[in-house]
Amino acid sequence: MTQPHPAPDMSPPTTAALERASQALAEGRLVAFPTETVYGLGGDAGNDQAVADIFAAKGRPTFNPLIVHLPDVAAVERYAVMDERAHQMADLYWPGPLTLVLPRRADAPLSLLVSAGLDTVAVRVPRHPTARALLQACGRPIAAPSANRSGHVSPTAPIHVRDEFPEGGGGRLALILADGRCPVGVESTVLDLSGETPVLLRPGSITPEEIEAVLGPIQRAAAPGGGVPNTGLRAPGMLESHYAPGLPVRLNAVNAAKDEALLGFGPDRFVLGGAERLNLSPTGDLSEAAANLFAMLRRLDKPALAGIAVMTIPDVGLGLAINDRLRRAAAPRS
Ligand code: TXA
Ligand code: MG
Repeated sequence: MTQPHPAPDMSPPTTAALERASQALAEGRLVAFPTETVYGLGGDAGNDQAVADIFAAKGRPTFNPLIVHLPDVAAVERYAVMDERAHQMADLYWPGPLTLVLPRRADAPLSLLVSAGLDTVAVRVPRHPTARALLQACGRPIAAPSANRSGHVSPTAPIHVRDEFPEGGGGRLALILADGRCPVGVESTVLDLSGETPVLLRPGSITPEEIEAVLGPIQRAAAPGGGVPNTGLRAPGMLESHYAPGLPVRLNAVNAAKDEALLGFGPDRFVLGGAERLNLSPTGDLSEAAANLFAMLRRLDKPALAGIAVMTIPDVGLGLAINDRLRRAAAPRS
């Protein structure tokens, strides 16, 4: 038996806490921090052991490549090659919830594990003030997947992170920088610009229409369960069952059983049943729904209930990202 580890410290992002966090990252330990999308589990992207510890803490079955977080375009260009398309997207959407997969510079001082041995690297410049303050304070590239155990729902509040890692991921997690709820609520849009045709690897709050307005036609990676095989190395880590609560999830519900929870969207008074009911956005606002999605799935995920029935979400704009996460939550468990 290994010794239990204490719960990780949680602190608001004071100057002293940012200093402690930077120190922890320099020592190869992990720090959870808020971004505009979800909380990240960060480690020094230049430190192989720290990156390996991220996988270990999450209990990830395989080494999926991670996103490297950087303070600005100049920093990104030290690690990745940005072409005209990358600059166009960066000018419009950085800092913000956009991840670009780009050719990795051969001499990039990054752990090879961070891109899982691929010759590309995923980079993003977050806009959350605490993420930016941490990047400034530590002066290192931060590798950060969402701060949840593998396959679980992403955390959008500090308490979710502590619930995921009650023993600090085996003591690897030094500190949680606690700064309220994440305003966007779903993970960043992942756009692969390493090949000739841009490929949308993961839908997010920056929509395909917005990207196509800048770059022209893009290829949209297959939706989970859509019958198109996973493209393997191109989109590693796009596991079908993912973002999953403990309870089974049922989509496009027009009613709920007595022992089910109902997760509504828009007016729900004609949808009957549900032992518990929450509504992602009674007015049908997709941004509000995205910001509420993971927190409400967590609140409804109670062992006493039989499942979560989710009303239909329109498959447009940010609805694409919400439905992508919901389909994964509803996919057969692997
Ligand atoms: O909003 C977000 O992006 C959050 C916050 C913390 O920034 N991070 C996040 O990281 O969602 P993660 O590791 O859960 O998701 C990274 C995604 C995965 O789908 C992974 O397969 C893809 O990016 N990815 C990373 N590097 C890649 C690469 N070189 N080629 C293709 N896909 C890559
Ligand atoms: Mg994740």
